[in-house]
Amino acid sequence: MNRRRLNYLYKLLYIWQMLQDQITQLTAEINAFTTTSADELEQFRIRFLGSKGLIKDIFEQFKSVSPEEKRVLGKVLNEFKQLAEAKYQALNESTAHTNSQSAKANIDLTLPGEGFEVGARHPLAIVRREIIEIFNKLGFSVAEGPEIEDDWHNFSALNFPEEHPARDMQDTFFIKKGGEHGDIALRTHTSSVQVRMMEAGTPPFRALMPGRVYRNEAISARAHCFFHQVEGLYVDENVSFADLKQTLFYFVQELYGEGTKVRFRPSYFPFTEPSAEMDVSCTICKGAGCQMCKYSGWVEILGCGMVDPNVLENCGIDHKKYSGFAFGMGIERIANLKWEIKDLRLFSENDVRFLKQYQSAII
Ligand code: DAH
Repeated sequence: MNRRRLNYLYKLLYIWQMLQDQITQLTAEINAFTTTSADELEQFRIRFLGSKGLIKDIFEQFKSVSPEEKRVLGKVLNEFKQLAEAKYQALNESTAHTNSQSAKANIDLTLPGEGFEVGARHPLAIVRREIIEIFNKLGFSVAEGPEIEDDWHNFSALNFPEEHPARDMQDTFFIKKGGEHGDIALRTHTSSVQVRMMEAGTPPFRALMPGRVYRNEAISARAHCFFHQVEGLYVDENVSFADLKQTLFYFVQELYGEGTKVRFRPSYFPFTEPSAEMDVSCTICKGAGCQMCKYSGWVEILGCGMVDPNVLENCGIDHKKYSGFAFGMGIERIANLKWEIKDLRLFSENDVRFLKQYQSAII
């Protein structure tokens, strides 16, 4: 054996010895280690199993031994690594358990709970709900339709002829020209939902259709480019104007209290015939005369009428067999009469000082 070979073997023996000593000592250390503290356990993990830990270090040294040596030493090293991992895992489970146990034991049930602020319903949501609840009692369900509408559903099916001046009555936000059912626009009223409902089903229909509508208006205290409406529709055999009057009369008694008077004034809408506007005796001054009713004692709250036979036919409903009534009201208007909210802009500014006032009205 030459000198170089001998030197090499000495070196191996030395490494072997060193690793063995180190492992024996560390094994004893691991076996003796115990803790209930998550911090100490973490120290243990870093020391032995961390990316700069001892085991990593030993494996590095191990790289320099011969293949025969590797086979024997490798087994010892792997066992050592498994020992450290098993210890860590066992302690990890038991400390997690003790920690949650002690956390439970430390809970002071007499401490006050964390408070949270109760929100308020938006005044428009309160009014919408009130309207829906009243009509629910009469068997009206609730339906909704899209805010982006086509010409057919917003105008044509509702009997607005092409170039009819009535189309100019509503300044519209147009989105796109053309399309299968005409120009696309933001709906100007919830009457479009009537059409969708009648097209999709068969009578009887008895539904309320609340929703947001858009008109191209300059924003001021008295006008806004979007607001909210509730549409009503009742179609069945033998529905008459008397049914319309009685339904709306009942609604007003429920909304504003027994004894509130109503009156119907003849009016015009393309989709109803005959058409009317309904006034109620002023809810603020009870008819004595005030700013709200412009000293007339009456305030208008909605438009209504018998569904025009053309509209029924446009929606595929036999107008000889069926008749119906419809009505539409602005939710802002009803809220305004209820709480004397004079500036429409308040509804969409989200000023908490304004909204907070309706806290007590949560139902
Ligand atoms: N769509 C009308 C508007 O926006 C309101 C209306 C009037 C709806 C009469 C109706 C109705 O259903 O019959 O001003």
